[in-house]
Amino acid sequence: MAKDAEKSTWKDFIWNSRTREFCGRTGSSWGLILLFYLVFYIFLAGMFCLTMYVMLQTLDDYKPTWQDRLGTPGMMIRPRGKAMEITYNTTNTETWDMYIKTLDNFLSPYNNSLQAEKNEECTPDKYFFQVDSGDVKNNPKRSCQFNRTILEKCSGLDDHTYGYQAGKPCIIIKLNRVIGMLPGKDDQAPFVTCGAKRYKVGKDEWKEDSDKIGEVEYYPENGTFNLMYYPYYGKKAQVNYSQPLVAIKFLNITHNEDINIECRIISNNIPPGTLRDKFAGKVSFKLRINTKG
Ligand SMILES: *[C@@H]1O[C@H](CO)[C@@H](O)[C@H](O)[C@H]1NC(C)=O
Ligand SMILES: *[C@@H]1O[C@H](CO)[C@@H](O)[C@H](O)[C@H]1NC(C)=O
Ligand SMILES: *[C@@H]1O[C@H](CO)[C@@H](O)[C@H](O)[C@H]1NC(C)=O
Ligand SMILES: *[C@@H]1O[C@H](CO)[C@@H](O)[C@H](O)[C@H]1NC(C)=O
Ligand SMILES: *[C@@H]1O[C@H](CO)[C@@H](O)[C@H](O)[C@H]1NC(C)=O
Ligand SMILES: *[C@@H]1O[C@H](CO)[C@@H](O)[C@H](O)[C@H]1NC(C)=O
Repeated sequence: MAKDAEKSTWKDFIWNSRTREFCGRTGSSWGLILLFYLVFYIFLAGMFCLTMYVMLQTLDDYKPTWQDRLGTPGMMIRPRGKAMEITYNTTNTETWDMYIKTLDNFLSPYNNSLQAEKNEECTPDKYFFQVDSGDVKNNPKRSCQFNRTILEKCSGLDDHTYGYQAGKPCIIIKLNRVIGMLPGKDDQAPFVTCGAKRYKVGKDEWKEDSDKIGEVEYYPENGTFNLMYYPYYGKKAQVNYSQPLVAIKFLNITHNEDINIECRIISNNIPPGTLRDKFAGKVSFKLRINTKG
């Protein structure tokens, strides 16, 4: 009997035919609950859409809203080698062929003919500002020619091996793109300078290979990044932008030894890399050119 009664209370709870209640609530009660949640979720979805809409309205396709306030831009070299180590044997073509291929690919958009087609001749030594007038955007923005021939002996045009075969290799340096950066003031262009990198050989013992680097040549002259390539307005606004480059050729570097080199950007308004970001404004790499074996 007791079991039966228990069973019937359970049954009654699920569906009480007497009071017409389902799980303890009447149909209209359930209806109100459903209606409440429906309205509640529609309200939430509406809020979400409204915030998204407002956020998207404030975004400009041509300009990133959030940009790292990077005081000093990073630098990179081509070819990079394996972990910034460029090692090869002059006598063995296979050991430097990949560097040549990397440089060929990297420089092909800089072919004079392509530059003449896509970009324009700008006034050198001056920033190339293309301002928007209020809400009227001045897009797409034009870009300046950087002809491959500017790199002279490092252009790969006369010397197809970029000096690698002769043991006088070229390294190409670029400054990372930073939208809106003006890398020099008072018409002074920033330039690249390369030298020996101090490295640790033991506890509190440092060494550098300055006597082994030999003479270097920079292209363009003095290793400058001309001001006319700045400011950069972003990928979308400046579709044909060609990053300016500096090439460095090692004319008399010591062979058959590891040489640690560091290149840095010198500018009158870019602070040298801070402790927090040791890699800002400089790049270091190792060169080893074997002429034996
Ligand atoms: C650029 O010029 C080099 C040498 O003249 C050529 O081999 C290469 O195919 C050219 N690249 C493009 C994309 O036109
Ligand atoms: C780049 O090369 C093209 C074709 O040779 C030439 O017409 C143009 O004047 C050069 N641009 C610059 C800035 O030297
Ligand atoms: C970009 O280059 C293309 C040719 O490749 C040219 O038709 C176009 O006008 C250029 N755009 C700008 C903004 O210079
Ligand atoms: C390179 O630097 C030297 C010495 O500072 C200067 O006389 C020369 O005009 C510079 N060349 C260029 C192209 O800026
Ligand atoms: C090249 O460097 C060596 C020392 O590493 C030096 O003895 C030699 O005179 C240099 N040659 C030239 C042409 O500078
Ligand atoms: C390059 O030369 C070094 C010695 O100078 C030798 O040990 C190495 O095997 C050579 N590498 C190749 C790929 O020929």
